[in-house]
Amino acid sequence: MENIKALAANLGLTYRDLGPADVGGGYLLSSQAGWNQTEADWRLMLANGQGWGLESPDGQLIASALTLPYGTEVAWISMVLVTETWRRHGIATDLLRHCIDHLDARGVTAGLDATEAGRLVYLPLGFQDIYPIDRMVAETPDLSDLGVERISRAMTAEDMDKVVALESVAFGAERGALIAHLFRQTPDVARVIERNGELTGYALGRNGRNYLQIGPLVAASETDALALLTETYGQGSGTSEPLLLDIPGHHAGLIKSLKDAGFTRQRGYVRMLMGQAEVMGNPGLVYAITGPELA
Ligand SMILES: CC(C)(COP(=O)(O)OP(=O)(O)OC[C@H]1O[C@@H](n2cnc3c(N)ncnc32)[C@H](O)[C@@H]1OP(=O)(O)O)[C@@H](O)C(=O)NCCC(=O)NCCS
Repeated sequence: MENIKALAANLGLTYRDLGPADVGGGYLLSSQAGWNQTEADWRLMLANGQGWGLESPDGQLIASALTLPYGTEVAWISMVLVTETWRRHGIATDLLRHCIDHLDARGVTAGLDATEAGRLVYLPLGFQDIYPIDRMVAETPDLSDLGVERISRAMTAEDMDKVVALESVAFGAERGALIAHLFRQTPDVARVIERNGELTGYALGRNGRNYLQIGPLVAASETDALALLTETYGQGSGTSEPLLLDIPGHHAGLIKSLKDAGFTRQRGYVRMLMGQAEVMGNPGLVYAITGPELA
């Protein structure tokens, strides 16, 4: 806490906790960086997590960092942003140190999905690479050529407990609040695969600033993942809006199928965990993450 406070004072900035009133300032910050979050995303993150930021003398939020707890053992560090004119002063480093201290004091492991620039800040702080993630986008996606069978159905409120249980296995921590939020926000893109009474996969999504993002997408096989995607997007809801998917690099087959369907790789991320290179959950089941800010 002391480092970031002192740094802020040296730079003529104010360091403070973030709260519900920062939805607008946070949205401006992430929009300036070209990110996909909406005000609803910021509302969710500020309500479920804890955030800190720096403010310029004219009252503008110029930097942010949040911690989002998942269960009792893991938290995601999210929305690490420093506005362009204030970069390379050590602000992100000291905000991160504060997040890490906050989580260490609670015995919670920090994870995050890093951009290329962010990774250069996180490596010296002790974060280690777990796996790469490719951000695949299409402005006018056409998934009809993926040629998959219709095997999913629309998710209902009765599926919630089973989805939360499978998400806990796939991600590696309890994410009931996140799953409920996504289902409430965009029920039309939520689908599940059920076989012999057992829920084996699901897709949820949310409308972003520029793209519909589908994730988490959890499935027992690549065929099931493609079916969920196709039915969620093309045939399920009949939508045709720009689509974004963050695909773990170990699902190279899915990435290739998306490229064949006209998707391009917009950028890469790296999933990182603090101080341990152990994989959490079962990444083989995760065909698309929720997004780097939500994991
Ligand atoms: C990434 C970001 C948060 C870094 O913020 P920052 O306050 O400038 O970072 P710091 O000043 O603490 O940087 C610490 C060190 O990280 C490295 N670093 C940070 N940004 C870098 C960049 N763009 N290129 C190369 N090295 C970089 C440098 O080693 C730097 O030390 P130095 O300035 O003494 O050389 C900021 O550039 C940003 O908001 N970018 C857009 C959004 C984003 O990618 N956020 C990260 C999400 S995971």
